[in-house]
Amino acid sequence: MATQREFSIFDLFKFANVNLDPLTETFDTNFYGTYVVTWPDCCQTVFNAMGTIQGYVLGKIEGRRDDDLAKNWHGHVSAVTVAPEFRREGLARKLMDILEKITSVIYNGFFVDLFVRATNKVAIALYKALGYDVYRTVKGYYSSENPKSSSSRDPILTIASLTYIFSSSGLKTLR
Ligand SMILES: CC(C)(COP(=O)(O)OP(=O)(O)OC[C@H]1O[C@@H](n2cnc3c(N)ncnc32)[C@H](O)[C@@H]1OP(=O)(O)O)[C@@H](O)C(=O)NCCC(=O)NCCS
Repeated sequence: MATQREFSIFDLFKFANVNLDPLTETFDTNFYGTYVVTWPDCCQTVFNAMGTIQGYVLGKIEGRRDDDLAKNWHGHVSAVTVAPEFRREGLARKLMDILEKITSVIYNGFFVDLFVRATNKVAIALYKALGYDVYRTVKGYYSSENPKSSSSRDPILTIASLTYIFSSSGLKTLR
């Protein structure tokens, strides 16, 4: 069973089970604080009956709100992650669904987009299953793609040179 609520800054003290995953980025406190204060509704946590954090999504709304020509007012997924022991239970699908609904219903956004490493096949499978398409590829988006990077957390992914940006399209277009 999973319960959902807005991500809290105090989750930082409890999310090690989720973030001790090589594919989950850990940022500085200021990053989380900015998200919690600026886009609280776009940041959601799921947890079980024991209070264990199962996963979370950190999102934001960006683009030009009033530019109906550009139509780029949209939701952006900065992080979506589920602890290994809670995967394949539909939690990421649920978290993405919440962010899409908030983008559409609360903010009247046009679409949702995100970046994912080209080597992250599981996440790519998730986004494809949710109806996202590759919109463009960007070289060197992640700092660990730099061959001189000193990151030792992610040695395999340092070789990735391309990053996909997924954008909802077709039936997934929000409006
Ligand atoms: C990617 C991730 C968030 C998926 O979380 P999850 O809760 O296990 O995903 P869900 O159970 O909601 O899966 C939804 C669909 O995605 C696809 N999918 C998810 N995991 C998959 C896997 N290991 N292999 C193939 N397809 C997969 C399936 O189509 C799945 O639907 P199904 O279970 O009905 O077949 C999780 O694996 C994770 O946290 N990975 C590490 C962090 C990460 O890479 N985040 C994304 C960064 S951009």
